[in-house]
Amino acid sequence: MIQGIIDQATEDVRQIVERAHVDSMTMIARYAAAFAVNFTDWMGRTILWVRHEKSRYVLADNLRCESVEDHVGMLLQFAELSGALPARVHFATVRREVSEIRHLFRDPLTAGLSGMVLLTVLEVTSEVFIPDLAERARRCGCTNFTYTDVHGSADIAHSLAFTEAVKGEATMGYIDAEAIMRKAADAAVTLMRRIYA
Ligand SMILES: [Fe+2]
Repeated sequence: MIQGIIDQATEDVRQIVERAHVDSMTMIARYAAAFAVNFTDWMGRTILWVRHEKSRYVLADNLRCESVEDHVGMLLQFAELSGALPARVHFATVRREVSEIRHLFRDPLTAGLSGMVLLTVLEVTSEVFIPDLAERARRCGCTNFTYTDVHGSADIAHSLAFTEAVKGEATMGYIDAEAIMRKAADAAVTLMRRIYA
């Protein structure tokens, strides 16, 4: 079931990226507005509520990596070098979708599985949107691709670890796990749709 949800989300994001009309600078600025700091915030919030030890392990391992390598700084530098540091309008554009994601963490009964699905979908679909992000940045004159290199093919191990962990998390007694998973996957896809719309 979870594999089906992830596959559907990946297909949705592929179509969103293929059918995008937004200009590259706007797309990068919206992406940075949505992800810089928030991504690690979502990881931290998920750790508090997960029930399976595999989830806790993969989250802590990733968060340490985000922290030691300063992925937030990396993303902001990437945006700056693309001439796309987010401005007020970009935060405003993604605000509702980012709030929806934050609200996934308001209910302690569902927050662990919600967070794991959200992060897994973002990790897995990054195989689709990170190469697009790199190509757009190149067109904007960016010459440093550390951010997209770190999150591109090198990130496949992370995607696999998240996918394994979320399968374990789904078995941990959540009531209506399928509905929780669909809602969280939907929140991730809806954010990507807003960034690319
Ligand atoms: Fe990262």
